[in-house]
Amino acid sequence: MKKGFIFDLDGVIVDTAKYHYLAWKKLAHELGFEFTKEQNELFKGVSRKRCLEILLEMGKVDATQEQFDTWMIEKNVDYLRYIEHMDASEILPDVPRILEFLQENKVPIALGSASKNARPILEKVGLLHYFDAIVDGNNVTKAKPDPEVFLLAAQQLDVNATDCVVFEDAVAGIKAANAAKMISIGIGDEKVLSEAHFNFTDFTEISIDFIQELIEG
Ligand code: BG6
Ligand code: MG
Repeated sequence: MKKGFIFDLDGVIVDTAKYHYLAWKKLAHELGFEFTKEQNELFKGVSRKRCLEILLEMGKVDATQEQFDTWMIEKNVDYLRYIEHMDASEILPDVPRILEFLQENKVPIALGSASKNARPILEKVGLLHYFDAIVDGNNVTKAKPDPEVFLLAAQQLDVNATDCVVFEDAVAGIKAANAAKMISIGIGDEKVLSEAHFNFTDFTEISIDFIQELIEG
């Protein structure tokens, strides 16, 4: 049976969480409150709109629709400034090793990300050419933990959902992969990602034998 491999972007392929954090922190500061790294954990895998809603709840800030829309734009403008100079040096360790192996073995690869900035980031770091399909925040109506993003990716790869493997660093993403009946692989803290079928701290821990088993399994 043909297998498909789906990768989340932020926190799996590149460490952009730090740039999202800086942009949200700046906005919180302007609104008169602090935003910590611990609080930023809650934003992983979460859509931009939902992040702003949570941020405003944290700061107990009431916003008109107009203010809300302005802050959404402002956060993204700041984020784009932070990622402007991203290059291949920001790819997380050993990600290209796994992508290269999958491509060599003609295994279809998709991106399944909540971000609306996914494509330009893949271009900047020079990994776009590995992907047979890209499903991101521009293509979905329901955010993770809803499985929509991964189901769409499977459809675009022309692979059954149950034959897909998902790499994720966010709890919402693992839940989405499990809801899609895919094999979920947690990248990061095993305690946080305890619902994943397999856990690794990062890609340096993933052997080619393991990938081969997933392809054949
Ligand atoms: C996810 C990130 O991948 O994308 C979230 O983990 C982020 O932190 C979300 O909020 C949306 O990203 P963007 O680039 O569309 O603001
Ligand atoms: Mg992520």
